[in-house]
Amino acid sequence: MFHFKEEKIVVTSALPYANGEIHLGHVVSTYLPADIFTRFLKLNGNKAFHICGTDDFGVPVLIKAEKEGKKPAELVKEFWEKDKKDLKSAGIDFDVFSQTSSEENIELVQYFFQELNKKGFIFTQQVEQYYCQNDKKFLPDRYVIGNCPFCGKENQYGDVCENCGRTYAATDLKDPKCAIDGSVPIRKKSLHYFFKLSKFDKKLKDWMENNKNLQPEVTNYLLQWIKEGLRDWDITRDISWGVKIPLKEADGKVLYGWFDNHLGYISFTLKLLKDKKIDGKKFWNDAKIYHFIGKDIVYHHYLFLPAMRMGEGSFKLPDVLPVRGHLLLQGHKFSKSRGVYIGLREFLESFPADYLRYYLASITPYDQSEINFNWDEFQAKINNELVATLGNFIHRAISFINSTFEGEVPKPKEYDDLDNEFIKKIGGIGKEVGDEIEKNEIQRGLKKILEFGAFCNQYFQKKEPWKTKDPTSLYLSIKAVRALAILLYPYVPFASEKLWKQLNFKGEVSDQKWDSISEIKIRPKHKIQKAEILFRKVEDEEIKIQKDKLPK
Ligand code: 2FM
Ligand code: ZN
Repeated sequence: MFHFKEEKIVVTSALPYANGEIHLGHVVSTYLPADIFTRFLKLNGNKAFHICGTDDFGVPVLIKAEKEGKKPAELVKEFWEKDKKDLKSAGIDFDVFSQTSSEENIELVQYFFQELNKKGFIFTQQVEQYYCQNDKKFLPDRYVIGNCPFCGKENQYGDVCENCGRTYAATDLKDPKCAIDGSVPIRKKSLHYFFKLSKFDKKLKDWMENNKNLQPEVTNYLLQWIKEGLRDWDITRDISWGVKIPLKEADGKVLYGWFDNHLGYISFTLKLLKDKKIDGKKFWNDAKIYHFIGKDIVYHHYLFLPAMRMGEGSFKLPDVLPVRGHLLLQGHKFSKSRGVYIGLREFLESFPADYLRYYLASITPYDQSEINFNWDEFQAKINNELVATLGNFIHRAISFINSTFEGEVPKPKEYDDLDNEFIKKIGGIGKEVGDEIEKNEIQRGLKKILEFGAFCNQYFQKKEPWKTKDPTSLYLSIKAVRALAILLYPYVPFASEKLWKQLNFKGEVSDQKWDSISEIKIRPKHKIQKAEILFRKVEDEEIKIQKDKLPK
């Protein structure tokens, strides 16, 4: 794994579709881990950027816009604004949050198509599509509803079965109906452009086998798919909302959303850096590239995305593609239609963003296993860990300096064995936590912080400065509080910044250096502010309200 210091790093988070709100499933698998990682990288002296934006094109967006009587561009703008705001409220910080329908992305996507075409990786083929004679429209993907060709489940869309999870062509559906007016569609031929994914099997295999930073549990099953043979990929849609295929004879056809969306990672980065007067392409190619995703889009990110970059040839492939699993709610599959669901905005109306971040980070491993959001566990972790362990120590250290030394950090005296042990802990904790975050082991990093907090509490208990008025223990404690302010910043940035103010330091935590966690940065006589509660307890009643919202 990498060790980061003064490196160039591009971190991207999977682009949310611009037709639905951000929910906790998105936050846990992608945005929060990517945000924690980037916040750490920045403190650790790297030139790191967190890149995201909405995924604007595609059939689902178009259908929603039609239903609401809006232009698709209007609808995606609304979701772009909403997503941006919601993610910001959760403390998810982006250096750029753009849109795949932006000019710069369309330009790059068309360039990629042309390059791939020039190099012989695109071919055409007539395909049969459903066509609605009433609407005078081809009916790709979600415009057709019928029975799943595999399991027979009714009312499935033309791309994937929600019951058995298998994907198929719309024309495979049994008993098909037009999703707009319910009529029976006819079959009609259309000329489609295909990307020769099969040409890249050897290269993809080499890339996966030689890149030790990819999670083996993911590459193992992808290698199996490659072995079974990759199918060339239909990248055409007969709809109006998408990036136009840049060929005269393409006759207004557009590219499939999965051809254009991941190119947003590159185009948004190039635009951001251009605005900063940095050579974006050079930066990209010199940088470590991380694409954070949820496990449902592994196929696209481990096959289409690298193959397209290999085909075009001038943009570096990802170094790491951190994949995390699905979220369950109280042990049940997350599902908006069944009410087993928590929207991000809804959550933040009841609890602070830091609580969400703390809890999710503490239950999310760096693998694809399912993650269970449990309200009782949420309450217990907030109350026992964030409030009783971390918050309590911080509060006591600040309060006692206020009550005993009028807010002035006292001068330490002789250090005894316990003091020396504490000094050693403070000296080592930054590296310990940083090593975990670098490896994307965000949950383990947080656990180390919590253990450190527990040690701080024990130290305080043993030293009893409220009885002894011992300046040494208060001096070291406030040093530990400063360390905690920085350690906690990637995880609970709002509380961390508040704590910084209580410590009466200049600037913001975001301007500090991770390495300074271990340095003596608090001088005796430094005047701190009054203690303010950083974390309050979650009451039983609050949890009951949440549980009552779930289906019985
Ligand atoms: O699955 C999704 O939600 C997609 N909108 C993710 C796109 S990520 C990318 F590659 F742009
Ligand atoms: Zn099925």
